Amino acid sequence: MASGSSASIGIIDLILSEHKYMRDEYEHFKSVDDEAQLDSRVRKWIAYISLHGHKEEIAFYPNVEAHLKDEKKGGHHLIEHGIKEHRELETELKKLSEESNVTWKQIRKAVAKLMHHLDEEEADILAPLRTKLDQQVQLELARQFIHAGQLASEKPHPELSKDPERAPVENINVGVVEKQ
Ligand SMILES: [Fe+2]
Ligand SMILES: [Fe+2]
Repeated sequence: MASGSSASIGIIDLILSEHKYMRDEYEHFKSVDDEAQLDSRVRKWIAYISLHGHKEEIAFYPNVEAHLKDEKKGGHHLIEHGIKEHRELETELKKLSEESNVTWKQIRKAVAKLMHHLDEEEADILAPLRTKLDQQVQLELARQFIHAGQLASEKPHPELSKDPERAPVENINVGVVEKQ
């Protein structure tokens, strides 16, 4: 079921490590001269980012909303905003994935949406949660997040619901069909 890392890393550090991978991959793209190699790495990157967002919508956002309730903007607002940004990012990732050969113009468009979302999620959701979730809860949420990888889609789906109540189920329905 869950990978070996599930027992030792909490949800905040797990999500941050996945964000780091997304940023590092983009930095790496800049040094890839071979077009076919760049194309292949960008397509893996699109799948990784799509899966990450879908895992958050299935197993992270719904579980932490209540812990963000006393924040200035309110937990529901923060989660709703996060999902809206996922859809905007997925719109650009989908365009990129539909190019026969990926272009830097479209990579940069996707990166602009990605960086904005990662920075905001880290500041508004992950940082406040670190002090609110005890270590046992963080480990359990990490386990659920990893497990959601078996349900979630690896493709960008800008058409999925922006509604925090509907998005988790739609994500699972789409992912399960793709994995059949
Ligand atoms: Fe994230
Ligand atoms: Fe996110």
